[in-house]
Amino acid sequence: MKKYAFIIAPILLLSGFYACTHKPQISIPVVIKDTTTNNNNNNNPDTTAGNVDTSVCFQRDVLPVFISSCAKSGCHDAITRAEGYNLTNYSGIVSRGLRPGNSSGSKLYTICVNGEMPTYPTPKLDSTQLSFIRRWIDMGAHNDTNCAVNCDTTKFTYANAIAPILKSYCYACHASAPAPGSGGGIVLDNYNGVLVQVQNGKLMGDLQHLAGHNAMPLGGSKLSDCKIIQFQKWIAAGAQNN
Ligand code: HEC
Repeated sequence: MKKYAFIIAPILLLSGFYACTHKPQISIPVVIKDTTTNNNNNNNPDTTAGNVDTSVCFQRDVLPVFISSCAKSGCHDAITRAEGYNLTNYSGIVSRGLRPGNSSGSKLYTICVNGEMPTYPTPKLDSTQLSFIRRWIDMGAHNDTNCAVNCDTTKFTYANAIAPILKSYCYACHASAPAPGSGGGIVLDNYNGVLVQVQNGKLMGDLQHLAGHNAMPLGGSKLSDCKIIQFQKWIAAGAQNN
């Protein structure tokens, strides 16, 4: 295996570079669904009348999308700044390609809607993530930091809590396609893959940023206490595929 490293390493380097360049590409049209009634930050549909949060908050909803999907190493991180974009923090995000109040005039948004960004193998942004960015820009693209914790610790099934959190915060690196290049080979977009990381004891330590663990999401802030409790409760109840 070792003797092939000199062949494989340059290929990986080149493909990593290719992934972050703006090559014209065929993209599947993205259907934008307005998810304003489904925007609590664990993505659980909240159908309780009068209990729908229609707000969007930068630190809670928008920054994590940029950090995990765009600010990857070799792309729009502080070092590479591909195409001049450093998408690791608020000042970088608003400094280029963004017109507060005008999402359709903001390249940062339109390039994600038309599917040009993020590039393969990073998954395209989903309708919830696109909706967060669009509404945040249209509301003035403010640096909201005091975000309400909009999450429910009584919900902790795999389908309703765990998988949606993983999708929002982890799939950019840990879905099957990007995992070999940017997720250390760890696949978290299916139940069995997640279960492996529960059973080897790494998942909770990584999420809690414990000493001796790899702090996850890589490069981002720790998940809210509420989300971490959802993981703890799901594991305590047997980490089922429920
Ligand atoms: C920007 C990319 C990126 C994001 C986003 C990310 N990870 Fe990782 N993750 C990695 C890399 C790279 C490794 C491999 C680290 C290593 O082996 O040194 C890794 C490793 C892991 C591992 C394997 C155990 C370990 O500590 O090595 C787990 C579990 C994990 N990540 C969980 C998560 C979870 C849960 C999320 C979302 C909350 C997440 N990661 C988000 C890049 C990412």
